[in-house]
Amino acid sequence: MVDLLNEIQRRRTFAIISHPDAGKTTLTEKLLLYGGAIHTAGAVKSKKASKSATSDWMAIEKERGISVASSVMQFEHEGCRFNLLDTPGHNDFSEDTYRTLTAADCAVMLIDIAKGVEPQTIKLFEVCKFRGIPIVTFVNKLDRDGREPLDVLDEIEKVLGIPCIPMNWPVGMGRSFRGVYDREQKHLIAFEKKATQGAKEADTHILELGSDAFRERVTPEEEEELLEMMMLYDDAGDDFSMDDFLQGKISPTFFGSAMNNFGVGPFLDRFVSLCPSPRGRATNEGVNDPLSDKFSGFVFKIQANMDPKHRDRIAFIRCCSGRFERGMKVNHIRTGKKMSLDRSVNFFAAERIQVEEAFSGDILGLWDSGNLRIGDTLGEHKKLAYEGIPQFSPEIFVKVRLNDPLKRKQLMKGLEQISDEGAVQLFHHVDKSRIDPIMGAVGWLQIEVVKHRLQAEYNVDAQLDRLPFAEARWVFGDDFDIKKFLRPGSVECLLDIEDRPLLLFENKWTRHRVEREHGEDYDFVAAVQPGRKH
Ligand code: G4P
Repeated sequence: MVDLLNEIQRRRTFAIISHPDAGKTTLTEKLLLYGGAIHTAGAVKSKKASKSATSDWMAIEKERGISVASSVMQFEHEGCRFNLLDTPGHNDFSEDTYRTLTAADCAVMLIDIAKGVEPQTIKLFEVCKFRGIPIVTFVNKLDRDGREPLDVLDEIEKVLGIPCIPMNWPVGMGRSFRGVYDREQKHLIAFEKKATQGAKEADTHILELGSDAFRERVTPEEEEELLEMMMLYDDAGDDFSMDDFLQGKISPTFFGSAMNNFGVGPFLDRFVSLCPSPRGRATNEGVNDPLSDKFSGFVFKIQANMDPKHRDRIAFIRCCSGRFERGMKVNHIRTGKKMSLDRSVNFFAAERIQVEEAFSGDILGLWDSGNLRIGDTLGEHKKLAYEGIPQFSPEIFVKVRLNDPLKRKQLMKGLEQISDEGAVQLFHHVDKSRIDPIMGAVGWLQIEVVKHRLQAEYNVDAQLDRLPFAEARWVFGDDFDIKKFLRPGSVECLLDIEDRPLLLFENKWTRHRVEREHGEDYDFVAAVQPGRKH
């Protein structure tokens, strides 16, 4: 008999957020190493291969394969089951990242000590803040000479508005990085550099503050500096409080070097108690109870063409309550139909494993033949539906023209299916006589992927004409009169798949002007929930 409560409470579902190159791939691997899921780091994915992979389609496919294979990584540590969600690695801040974060209960914000807060860090942080996801900070690359740790923590507080509470503090940096001082235990965890270059766990020694062994390792200047820093923090009274952390008011902070495995072990040991077990989520019936024994979950991501020979797709479900059992029958809330969940999979590295059971907090892959949409709720409840995942206003728009007008039906089918998966958004011109559909995306890569997929999967050769608009906002308000807004070439209007008007602006000044002129009567928004009407 499964102990449902225990299974749910031992789940820890999180994601790592960072600017590219801060070391996310490296830290992911090292967590898997310390979590015992791999035995030698370097096995999960070849970074070089995936980095150069954004240039051509074949490589994109390959990269997609890799990143899909590792969409969710699982490992066990100190009795807890960790689900580490992989957020997309490329530079475009995509909706995919946002959607993935909706499935996490906690985020690890990775900062490069030399670079501090970077643009992508800010965007991802904002998403976590908006979603109420608590954030643990890991400051990386202490094996290199970077900035003063205090400077970096100050910058985080200034730029992101969240105070960092150091759980440990680095002693030395670069070549003289000695280890991290644990503030609670009041000892130094000293690291030894190994010839394996981080492939195996680092050797560590615990050195009590002021002991002979400590003094052999740490210079008097370093000791003095450490004591001063600790006094500064103790005097400031910025103690760690679990409540403040869970409410996103503070970020407990760790230092280390993921590449050398310095500080990864101490981080993971503490993370077990920091990362919350599955948290309640907003539904149409209030916040759900993650410990309830009825199964429920929502689709946060859809990945098409896992196998290019078959037009199959996988819907990723975040389990939010109860226990999933393969073969169970659930309600598909949006359509009111029953669904039998027979084809469930889990991904790790290149293997797909059939999943027999899963619990609140886990991520489940379901083979789907086109019934599921992002944001859909599945569950044993009759009506409970999780709050939908918002759509963001795209920044790139292209008109899709056909070389062969007879292919229109295929084109629309392809675009509708691909937009269901959330890869791009589909729009139509408000003037119905302009029949060419319009695709919107945040990054150019997404547009290219769709063009290729239209050709490869739907046999449609489409021409893409980029439209000269850089910003867009949905507009809500009574008595919407399009004529008030339209200025050919500078402001245009599209309708989304729910027939809601989206205004396109030539640049941000035009948007500001329109918002100033009409701000009192209309609401201009950059993100909408599915189903929102005026
Ligand atoms: P990302 O997924 O966030 O983009 O970062 P990734 O882990 O790929 O790391 C980016 C670069 O930073 C890599 O170097 C990686 O080795 C390096 N790195 C990660 N952690 C540390 C660390 O603790 N210390 C130091 N000094 N470097 C670190 P690369 O040259 O781009 O790749 P590679 O040749 O090392 O594979």
